[in-house]
Amino acid sequence: MRIRTLPEYHAAYQQSVENPAAFWGACAEPFTWRKKWTSVLGGEFSPAGRSTWFEGARLNLTENCLDRHLATRGNKLALIFEPNDSKTRHQRFTYRELHQQVCQFANVLLNNGVEKGDRIIIYMPMIPQLAVAVLACARIGAVHSVVFAGFSATAIADRVQDAEATYVITADGLNRGAKQIPVKSVVDEALTTCPAVRRVVVVEHLGWPVLMQAGRDVWYHDEAKNAALTCPAEEMKAEDPLFILYTSGSTGKPKGVVHSQAGYMVWADFTFRNVFQVEENDVHWCTADIGWVTGHTYGLYGPLLAGSTSLLFEGVPTYPDAGRFWEVIDKHHVSIFYTAPTAIRSLMALPLDNVLSYSLSSLRILGSVGEPINEEAWHWYDQHIGKSRCPIVDTWWQTETGGIMISALAGITPSVPARAGLPLPGVQPVLLAQDGTEIAGNDQEGYLAIKASWPGIIRTTWGDHERARQTYFTPYPGYYFTGDGARRDADGLYRIIGRVDDVINVSGHRFGTAEIENAINQNEHVVESAVVGYPHDVKGQGIYAYVICRDGLPTSAADRTIFEASIIETVVAEIGKIAKPDKIQLVSGLPKTRSGKIMRRILRKIAEGETESLGDVTTLLDPAVVAEIVAGRK
Ligand code: PRX
Repeated sequence: MRIRTLPEYHAAYQQSVENPAAFWGACAEPFTWRKKWTSVLGGEFSPAGRSTWFEGARLNLTENCLDRHLATRGNKLALIFEPNDSKTRHQRFTYRELHQQVCQFANVLLNNGVEKGDRIIIYMPMIPQLAVAVLACARIGAVHSVVFAGFSATAIADRVQDAEATYVITADGLNRGAKQIPVKSVVDEALTTCPAVRRVVVVEHLGWPVLMQAGRDVWYHDEAKNAALTCPAEEMKAEDPLFILYTSGSTGKPKGVVHSQAGYMVWADFTFRNVFQVEENDVHWCTADIGWVTGHTYGLYGPLLAGSTSLLFEGVPTYPDAGRFWEVIDKHHVSIFYTAPTAIRSLMALPLDNVLSYSLSSLRILGSVGEPINEEAWHWYDQHIGKSRCPIVDTWWQTETGGIMISALAGITPSVPARAGLPLPGVQPVLLAQDGTEIAGNDQEGYLAIKASWPGIIRTTWGDHERARQTYFTPYPGYYFTGDGARRDADGLYRIIGRVDDVINVSGHRFGTAEIENAINQNEHVVESAVVGYPHDVKGQGIYAYVICRDGLPTSAADRTIFEASIIETVVAEIGKIAKPDKIQLVSGLPKTRSGKIMRRILRKIAEGETESLGDVTTLLDPAVVAEIVAGRK
């Protein structure tokens, strides 16, 4: 279904709420099904926390992403790959070529013993083989779990173990701006604690020598020599798992969000085509890495399901200079550009010349995702990139929602700075008060929850359904709880305020404060730590860590610097560079209640610089510690 006007949006929305089975059944019709569904939707939010979509159906997602298009779009570009270095030649893949590559990769996996349902961790640079590897898993019914290549060996090992993965796909190394990073050696380190991994398939990218463990590691290019270019697609049940993607929550350990086949497919396709108002000749560029959900749904599955052309970019916005995004847009005639506010904010801080040398005339639609986009960034994006002629869609969604939930449909429903806008068809947002009652009317603020299931909803958390039930479906029975706070403005448009739980959003990436604290506490000289977010001009939120050291506060500045560096090293080793604290304050104690609970509210206020409004601190176990922390604030 394609919505093209405001009245069509309202009609579709109404039908999706009144008769979801008819609405989504019609949306699912055009796909290739081996067998049609017996019921469109089932399950319940409370108490089970389970949803099913298109139960009884059989399909393969890659048949819908690739085979379905061969007759009409075989020679159309499916992927454009722009390498890190602008002097390296780009690569292009038609639907026919991508189909062959996916089949070949799938055969390599089969030849190495992969079976339907096996979990495969993919830890790779943003290169075409990453997309191919993901689709190859889907082709044969293996469950992919992509781990962003900025995570550490420990983080990979945690995910391999949690998913009970038996295969890993990786590369020799990756380019990131002027730097090259050895990827395979990070995997080697991770796998020292993962004996269940049977095979590591290594894609050659940088041409670096790597250690290959006999009997476990194989080069993709050696294996591909014996792999055919066709591969039958495995018939999957609608609710078989498609992928696991680990994401942070308010507890210490990231959880494996599970998405399944049919519902995710319908949701990715519907949201992609309608939000971005995709036309046949569009070139779509989602700058998110495939290691994040945005890359899954709008870098890969959504565009391919729609038969679109998607651009993959290996590099960073500032290499070789801060005009790289705009150069790539002109070079490949990108018409839909989808990025994160943090990227916009970092580029708008640099001279405008970086933008003015490019025409950007191919652009039609701009998108934003991952965190609230502030008005200043919205206007800069609109004026300098969109030249005030491209609608902007500010898309609110989550790893758990599979696809966009609240957003303008480009050029059709209202797009107002700092508002995500109206819900998509099928999405019923509500604002809840603390006691769980629904807040009616406009111009209201509350906890954002969703009232009914939609096809892309999380199915479970891998290996631990109770965790999904407790996190999303138990706080407010009968609703899916998002963890965000939101405001519904006078016109009924939603503005996302930010997380209301202990999750911080750094450059659009989610971390649990407990997860970072656990990492810091691994440092042998740390007794305890407390982590909070604080407003950061570029990253949205920065990470502020208060740390108590085992041997008392270091007295010299040099010792403090050494200690802080060792804390950063610990976090980098436990999680990865992306979770490095921006500020570390060494303290002799933390503000705690008499029952021992850390008063994060006070720590947040101090980190934000609001030291005048800390409230009553006299009931704390040790009120004097607050004055010390305020005095030593970074
Ligand atoms: O707080 C919201 C914020 O990002 C969280 C979801 O993070 P993640 O699962 O990593 O997915 C990011 C990409 C979909 C949300 O709970 N968030 C995401 N998009 C927006 C947003 N906050 C405000 N506006 C958005 N457009």
